[in-house]
This record gives sequence, structure tokens and C-alpha cells, in this order.
Amino acid sequence: MQSLTELYIYPIKSTKGIELPQALVEEKGLKDDRRYMLVDLEGKFITGRTHPQLTQISIEFSKKGLFVSAPKQPSIYIQPELFSTQTLNVDIWSDSVQAQHCNIEYDRWFSSFLKQECQLVYFADTSNRTVKNTQYEVGFADGYPLLLINQASIDQLNTHLDAPISALHFRPNLLIKGDTAFIEDTWARIRIGEVAFQVSKPCSRCTFTNVDPKTGVADLEQPLKTLSQFRYHQGDIDFGQNLIPLNTGIIRCGDAIEILETQIPPSYSSMLATQTSNKEAVQIYFAGSDIEVTGDNQQLLLEQAEQAGINIPYSCRGGKCGRCKTQVLSGEVSVLSNEGLNDNEIEAGYVLACSCIPLSDITINH
Ligand code: FES
Repeated sequence: MQSLTELYIYPIKSTKGIELPQALVEEKGLKDDRRYMLVDLEGKFITGRTHPQLTQISIEFSKKGLFVSAPKQPSIYIQPELFSTQTLNVDIWSDSVQAQHCNIEYDRWFSSFLKQECQLVYFADTSNRTVKNTQYEVGFADGYPLLLINQASIDQLNTHLDAPISALHFRPNLLIKGDTAFIEDTWARIRIGEVAFQVSKPCSRCTFTNVDPKTGVADLEQPLKTLSQFRYHQGDIDFGQNLIPLNTGIIRCGDAIEILETQIPPSYSSMLATQTSNKEAVQIYFAGSDIEVTGDNQQLLLEQAEQAGINIPYSCRGGKCGRCKTQVLSGEVSVLSNEGLNDNEIEAGYVLACSCIPLSDITINH
């Protein structure tokens, strides 16, 4: 029987998870999950993608507040009664959120640990963020309220890896024991305990997956490289399913997974095999740098620019943050994701270099 085996929350985004025997599912996801986040002095979010050492910060709930500890640092308590009343406009991926600034003392603690000036913010009752193109609420999670991982899928992945990994590499909220690997791809709606969930979208994985949660050290390749060999679909490497709760209620470890509705899963293949079939040369003209290179119609624009020695700034490399946006002045590209762009930018011909592939000769304003 398929059942829920482990439950995790991550009160501060990108820090260590807390395992729970049961949890309250709220509109935004599990209670206390990703309600805090670190941002830089300009309000841009900071995560384990760029700062893997964040995964070494431990959090515990205590009567005094959140007890926060980390290697080589004195511990602190984060106490809501000491929060500032100041609101900060912060950016997470392509969303802007009005968040509550916590306290300058906490900023110092995290800045000292990260060796970079940063601020701790709280997703207050007045803060507002929705899942893209929906009315469903989400806090400081990447884009969806909950993430489900199937242990059977991890087991199958591990058969391809020299060094097996645990589910915690994928930072799940819900770890389930499924009947077979990747059965979760076929679910459209499920019920666990008191709560029904929409199985909204496969989770597109980035280099954060390569960070070992035990050590905080990022492997240069695995497991993302292996996943790319059999979990590639339309520019994304998927593992796990994003869920949206359809009601609130309690879920508990041991609860059965009831399948309410199924769907046809995407057809996954190897990224390399997909890219080498039907390969054709295209000319890419970087108008801002006045450089033209011969590229191809298979590789991401960002990668082709890098190979040509042209620096397009990036962050997530997953189509979410918007950092790599560039304007296409002529020619055709295949857009794999435009999540990191707003409607005006799309209208003006902007694309995300990390998430598009030239289909013809193109000119870009870079
Ligand atoms: S680097 Fe984040 S959208 Fe391209």
C-alpha cells in the first residue's frame, strides 16, 4: 500500500529540515514551512543554490522562539515579539513580496555565518504571494506549497549512482512509500489523511539537488547529471511532484495515499540524446557585443553564449529568477520556460537565455 512515511518542514528557506510525525496543512503548505527567508541588502532572495552552507543551519522550536544553531557560531533564538515593524519589498524568483523585517541582531548572525551582508525576513499574515497563474497561496517555497518525493523513485535513481543519495537531497515535504518508481507522475489528484491535493507540476531540479544535506558540500555533477539521462522533458530535469492543497487539515505519517484522479505523465528521455538528434547549425549574433557565432538548434542559448565567451549573468539556470533575460531582436527561439519574465517583458521579446534554444539564425540584444 502506498503511504506517507516522512514529513518535513524547513522554517527558514534552504536551512536543515525538521522531521515531524504529523502536520497541519494550511493554504500555503505545511504550517511553519518556509515562513522565513534570507535576502541581500537589495531584497533579493538568498538560497542554498548559491550558498550551500545554509543547509548546515539547524532549527528547533522552543518556548522562547526558533532556536537556531550553526557550526562555529553561538546559537540564537528568533523571537517574534522582537521583530521590527518595518516591511521590506523582497524578490523571490520573479515575485515581489512585502515581507516583515525580523531584527537587525538576527541579520548580523546570518551575515556572520554567510560572510555576506543579509537580512532575515518573515512571511507575515499580511504578506501575499500566489502560485504562478493561480489564486493558490504560497509562502517562501520556490513556487508551490508542497513537494512530494517517492522513495521508490529515489531507489531507482540510486541504482544508477555510484554513491547512493537520500531523499533529503531533494528537500521534500512529504516522503512517500510508492508501489513503483515514478508512479507519482501519473497522479493528478490525491488524498492524504484529511487533505486532498492537486498534483500540480513535476518539480524541475537545479544544482541545489547536488548539495549533500549532511555536509553542505555541492557535488559538481551528481545526481543531476544522472537524472538528465532519463528524466529530461522540454528543457527541464524533473524529480518529484509539486502539490497544491485543496483544503486544510491534518496529515500524519502512516496515512495511506488515495488516488483520486490520474493523468498521462510526460514522456521522459535523455537530455543528451534529445539534443544530438536533428542537430542543425544556426548563426547567433550578439548585437550588443557585435559578435556572431555559429551555434546549433539544440543547446540552450545561455550555454552557447558561454561557449562563445559572452557573459550573460545568471542565477538559477532554471527559468525562474529572470537574471539571464535577454531580448531577441530577430529570429525564432523555442521557449522552454518564461516563468522569470513578466508580461511586458514577454511582449517586448525578452527570453530567458537559460531556458530557450535558438531554432533559426537569431540576433539578440546582448
Ligand atoms: S538564470 Fe534564472 S531565469 Fe535564467
